[in-house]
Amino acid sequence: MSPNAQHPHHAPRGARAWRRRWPALACALAGLLAQGASRADEAPRVPLLPAYQQECGACHVAFPAALLPAASWQRLMNGLPRHYGSDASLAPALQAEIGAWLATHAGTGKRAREAPPEDRITRGAWFQREHRQVAAATWQRPAIQRASHCAACHPQAEKGDFNEHQIRIPR
Ligand code: HEC
Ligand code: HEC
Repeated sequence: MSPNAQHPHHAPRGARAWRRRWPALACALAGLLAQGASRADEAPRVPLLPAYQQECGACHVAFPAALLPAASWQRLMNGLPRHYGSDASLAPALQAEIGAWLATHAGTGKRAREAPPEDRITRGAWFQREHRQVAAATWQRPAIQRASHCAACHPQAEKGDFNEHQIRIPR
């Protein structure tokens, strides 16, 4: 066993090395780690992998990993050349690094119980419920335009902070 098994706090780096050597075992390990982190979607502020922040935060905020289940992240990472009408392809090593990190930190709690339609956070049942008070016309305001533009209303979204007390809806 890896020494990391005794030190779960140091697991991500170890998990990556594992994945290279024993892909099947590493998958099972990632599943266990994700379960251990099941409270992450109540407090979705895991420090972001720098490569994830940089590459996946270029066109929209780097969405909290805990807001989608692992299956959704895996599909997204396997379809980057056709990413919601954009080409978001990455070099293979970068794609593997980010994919592994997302697999480890994917949601397992109530917000990520099942893959939402199109693997969109914004189409998940909890998202629609949390945002039911936002009127259809509000989403269309020029400063917002799309539900995935989290930062328009959650100014701390970049830091993974969606606390209801921080929300400011632009006019
Ligand atoms: C070239 C620009 C670009 C890059 C780079 C990019 N995306 Fe996207 N992403 C988009 C667009 C455009 C959408 C669709 C936005 C919409 O329709 O609201 C999107 C949507 C998404 C959604 C669904 C949002 C929702 O509606 O809930 C997820 C999840 C997502 N991206 C993850 C990623 C990940 C992970 C990466 C990095 C591997 C990434 N994106 C990199 C452009 C990009
Ligand atoms: C049009 C503005 C707007 C946009 C865009 C928006 N939200 Fe929200 N969000 C809100 C409002 C309003 C609430 C409800 C606050 C309440 O119930 O008091 C909310 C609530 C939430 C909550 C629950 C917060 C809590 O403390 O319980 C989360 C999590 C959240 N949003 C995530 C997101 C994510 C992720 C995105 C982007 C994919 C997003 N939001 C896009 C306005 C927005």
